[in-house]
Amino acid sequence: MMDKILSVDPNLVPKKKLNTGDVMPMIGLGTFGSDRCDSLTIADAVRVAIIGGYRHIDCASVYGNEKEIGQVIADLIKEGVVKREELWITSKLWNDCHHDVAKACRKSLADLQLDYLDLYLVHWPFPNFHAKGVSVDSRDPNARPYIQVEFMEVWSEMEKLKKEGLVRNIGTSNMTVPKYKLLLRDCAIRPAVNEMELHPHFQQPEMFDYMVKNGIAVVGFCPIGSPNRPDRDKTPTDTCPTKDPVILDISAKHGIHPAVVCVKWAVQDGHTPIPFSTKPKNIMSNLRCSFEDPLSDEEMSAIKSIDKNCRFIKGQVFCWEDANWEDLWDLNGEIKGW
Ligand SMILES: NC(=O)c1ccc[n+]([C@@H]2O[C@H](COP(=O)([O-])OP(=O)(O)OC[C@H]3O[C@@H](n4cnc5c(N)ncnc54)[C@H](OP(=O)(O)O)[C@@H]3O)[C@@H](O)[C@H]2O)c1
Repeated sequence: MMDKILSVDPNLVPKKKLNTGDVMPMIGLGTFGSDRCDSLTIADAVRVAIIGGYRHIDCASVYGNEKEIGQVIADLIKEGVVKREELWITSKLWNDCHHDVAKACRKSLADLQLDYLDLYLVHWPFPNFHAKGVSVDSRDPNARPYIQVEFMEVWSEMEKLKKEGLVRNIGTSNMTVPKYKLLLRDCAIRPAVNEMELHPHFQQPEMFDYMVKNGIAVVGFCPIGSPNRPDRDKTPTDTCPTKDPVILDISAKHGIHPAVVCVKWAVQDGHTPIPFSTKPKNIMSNLRCSFEDPLSDEEMSAIKSIDKNCRFIKGQVFCWEDANWEDLWDLNGEIKGW
């Protein structure tokens, strides 16, 4: 499979300098199989990606494939394809492990066969979780609203991991500006990265600007609009960035797939997309587009104008009793349940 792929020089891929001084490649491979792809298929995609020139892999314990990915990474290091220090490996603390952050981190490290993570994120800012593959109506009976004191306990455990050298950078995911203000007020070590949903139909300008102003790098998930996301994350009003006429027009002009336009836009916009794919051709198009054939200023402005404020990963299954998904996102600027 690989002999047909023209590998890319990883030095050509844009990099983001973090507030810790570390340097993160500005495109990574996503590894969530949306409950559809098995672990070995995803591990194989990681193999293709690293051989092809990717150096950034976005993992999480809840994706259920860190063992298989870890084996691929170990094999590639052993084969001399890549050195550990050239890789940027992210993992995430799942919601049911907030009470034992160190144990969860050590489990991810063991599964990934690594001595340290480049980035460890708190996946969601509350301990509410769901069983694998549950329907959108399913609720964790113990689910509760965000509680600042509890979140800071988790964060201080994250800080310890950094001090101990188990992780080089710590960060957050699925946060809001009101929650972030409290985190920055109370933390000892500031987050280096915030991972958030970002694509042309969900640009989150206020949140994005807040991160930029506070020196926190942004990783964008679902950069293509996650067309194969689990059914629990689909609602009838959802839009589709890869079918947007503006994206289609730009893709026709550049002779590229609409998905690639989305990835290109993300990198040029200054954040770090982590597109998922299991197809070598798509994996490589997404990497190459980060430095080839840039979009014009007019094209970037045209994409800016198609924001539909359409969140796909609503998090319904994390709602507490009587809450609806909007309550998770502090839409009126206040933390619900605070
Ligand atoms: N922090 C969080 O809470 C969170 C939440 C969601 C996701 N994530 C992360 O973000 C990653 C990406 O999100 P996602 O996987 O939901 O969605 P996505 O990257 O927006 O979309 C992935 C889909 O796009 C297709 N695709 C990719 N490149 C393509 C190309 N060049 N041409 C045509 N189609 C292409 C893929 O199909 P093919 O396989 O057929 O190419 C795949 O079905 C996840 O894998 C995960 O690592 C994080």
